[in-house]
Amino acid sequence: MKALTIGNLKARIPIIQGGMGVGISLSNLASAVANEGGIGVISAAGLGLLYKKLSPNYTEAGNLGLIEEIRRAREKAKGIIGVNIMVALSDFAELVKTSIAEKVDVIFSGAGLPLDLPSFLHKDSVTKLVPIVSSARAVRIICEKWQNNYGYLPDAVVLEGPKAGGHLGYKENQLEDQLFSLEELLPQVVHEVSLFEEKYHKSIPVIAAGGIYTGEDIRRMMELGASGVQLGTRFVTTTECDASEDFKMSYINAHEADIEIIKSPVGMPGRAIHSSFLEKVKAGIQQPKSCPFNCIKTCDISRSPYCIVLALYNAFRGNFEKGYAFAGSNAWRAKNIVSVKETIAELVAEWKAKELKFR
Ligand SMILES: Cc1cc2nc3c(=O)[nH]c(=O)nc-3n(C[C@H](O)[C@H](O)[C@H](O)COP(=O)(O)O)c2cc1C
Repeated sequence: MKALTIGNLKARIPIIQGGMGVGISLSNLASAVANEGGIGVISAAGLGLLYKKLSPNYTEAGNLGLIEEIRRAREKAKGIIGVNIMVALSDFAELVKTSIAEKVDVIFSGAGLPLDLPSFLHKDSVTKLVPIVSSARAVRIICEKWQNNYGYLPDAVVLEGPKAGGHLGYKENQLEDQLFSLEELLPQVVHEVSLFEEKYHKSIPVIAAGGIYTGEDIRRMMELGASGVQLGTRFVTTTECDASEDFKMSYINAHEADIEIIKSPVGMPGRAIHSSFLEKVKAGIQQPKSCPFNCIKTCDISRSPYCIVLALYNAFRGNFEKGYAFAGSNAWRAKNIVSVKETIAELVAEWKAKELKFR
């Protein structure tokens, strides 16, 4: 596989492990992927809950937890470490500042347009900025705003298609529409980005994400113009994934029909594995009466059917009576839990097998 270059960073394997909150991708998974030559990503979502022992204040605990996770990943890994920070998080600015101060290699940011992300960089910052988008239009808006306001262009762009896990940047009726498939959108985004690359003489690799599961899938994306890929689901069923064994087993035990689209309190559709909790939500469980976290900008507690950060935290710990697992459309394909090393070796072998077929 061809290395992925983002500014002065070079990943020997062009595979990014997508950030997965709440607690699914922390320092353990991120460092394992980085050590194999890919880019490992810590998710900043929900750290205030995972690290509640560090402070009674959710934002403060989240920041202290993020510092802890970045430092742990650095201790364990020689490679490239990123942090995923969703624009929708109320403590977005604090988490970005912390990541830059900790000299994390890359910040990935989606679930909204990260229009002010470059404003957090200082003269001596080393952190690369990579927005996650779902259309060529979103890329154009971000590039124009960043260039006009900060004289800065993204260091790479992740295009996340509709087959991804977690929150999806599409309307529900677009999810099955071929016009919004990753294969359709990827050449559009590559073209849009190339206009800025030519005009401003900066290389902006495009990374494809969403439903990429095999080495053959990776090759297909590269042929469509991607310089790298981002995989989430495939890394959940690894020994090093930070989720509980029960969370990983929910993937192993899932059938294709168990993967469903839900309406998240965040205001976006999401993809998850069916659970008894989701049944209760459909039946209209009680609304939460108060919110101690205020973790998501767009979440209105008076209208939310449940607290999403608690539901995802419960799932992370294996309690599906009170939560559910986010998952990509391929989650049902996992058969057993294997190491990150084996996972990447398999992806590379599948990639090579496809190469031989074409000779
Ligand atoms: C369990 C889970 C949690 C996720 N959490 C986040 C998140 O907190 N922020 C984010 O930007 N993307 C999140 N994602 C999306 C992934 O980073 C990745 O882009 C996506 O899952 C790629 O599709 P795939 O799972 O089909 O490989 C999540 C995905 C999964 C499966």
